[in-house]
Amino acid sequence: MHKILVTGGCGFIGSHTVVDLIENGFDVVSIDDNSRSTTYLLDGIEKITGKKIKNYKVDLKNFDETRAVFQENEDISGVIHFAAFKAVGESVEKPLDYYENNNFSLVNLLKCVKEFSIPYFVFSSSCTVYGNPDDVPVTEQSPEKKAESPYGATKQMGERIIQDFTKAENTSSILLRYFNPVGAHPSILIGELPLGRPQNLVPAITQTAIGKLPQMQVYGGDYPTRDGSCVRDYIHVSDIAHAHTLAFEYLLNKKNKTRCDIFNLGSGNGVTVLEAIQAFEKVSGKKLNYKVGPRRPGDVVAIYANNNFAVQSLGWNIKFNLDDMMHTAWQWELKVKEDEELIRKQKHTLN
Ligand code: WQD
Repeated sequence: MHKILVTGGCGFIGSHTVVDLIENGFDVVSIDDNSRSTTYLLDGIEKITGKKIKNYKVDLKNFDETRAVFQENEDISGVIHFAAFKAVGESVEKPLDYYENNNFSLVNLLKCVKEFSIPYFVFSSSCTVYGNPDDVPVTEQSPEKKAESPYGATKQMGERIIQDFTKAENTSSILLRYFNPVGAHPSILIGELPLGRPQNLVPAITQTAIGKLPQMQVYGGDYPTRDGSCVRDYIHVSDIAHAHTLAFEYLLNKKNKTRCDIFNLGSGNGVTVLEAIQAFEKVSGKKLNYKVGPRRPGDVVAIYANNNFAVQSLGWNIKFNLDDMMHTAWQWELKVKEDEELIRKQKHTLN
């Protein structure tokens, strides 16, 4: 059984990928410092898979502590690196936090991959590496324009670091460029848990609908798009997760075309912010309280994927559509509220 080290295993995409890896016969350990997550999702992983996942609460910026995890797990076949800050708007306000956290930790991790001769490395990259594309849909060969945000720049640098590392060492890598991961596992036992005010669209929608936020802002209604709001490629988190399992199997079976293949992980469908809101209202039956406000610095106008390479080479079959994404996101929000009340009652009883 191959053992995979997942960094950020307590996070949104990390936890869903851990479930998919386990369901496909892999053994998994996680490194997550819980700076942007809790161990709540590990409980959900255990309920879904029956497996208790070991998480090392380690900051990847601490080389010695990171190295110790590799020393304790000499049988690691590969690494999937999710752990990073990922909010476009926040990265504009705090660029140094993003460069330090996202890129310094990557170098530490790769030093361990080299020292312990780990053969496979999969990187959580992002469509933000394309900047504001001239043409859509984007393919993996589309030009990388100047990233619109420091977050996007950290992903562009991350890809370059890995490509140079792969050329110099014996590890084979894969760069997975996510578009907009949304939704929750169909069991509704794991999902997105943004700490504090949500930066991303779908948690902002569901938190507004459940009453956690008074009103949602649509960032910009005057873009040159069909309804004036930005276009994105929303993709269900469980489809993204399964692509990671397929990526490892692709490497294990030596099907990779190069030592660092790149894949777009998007649905191939461009959806505007207003269309996403309409889809949510349709599946939830809730009228969303939102207003169209000023643009958000760092946003690109429109981007969506040409995903042919992933579909054909990884055998990636997308299972969930936009309604499924909104339905599972809403059901998850309702579950979190129920659990919060349960936790509040438990705390009350304990006191
Ligand atoms: C989507 C659209 C906003 C919130 C994300 C991730 C990033 C990367 C790429 C994986 C934009 C609008 C949002 C709100 C809004 N994914 N919006 N009101 O910026 O495309 O980037 O996908 O690596 O990690 O952050 O996603 O969800 O923040 O925004 O109008 O309250 O929704 O302007 O047009 P983004 P997002």
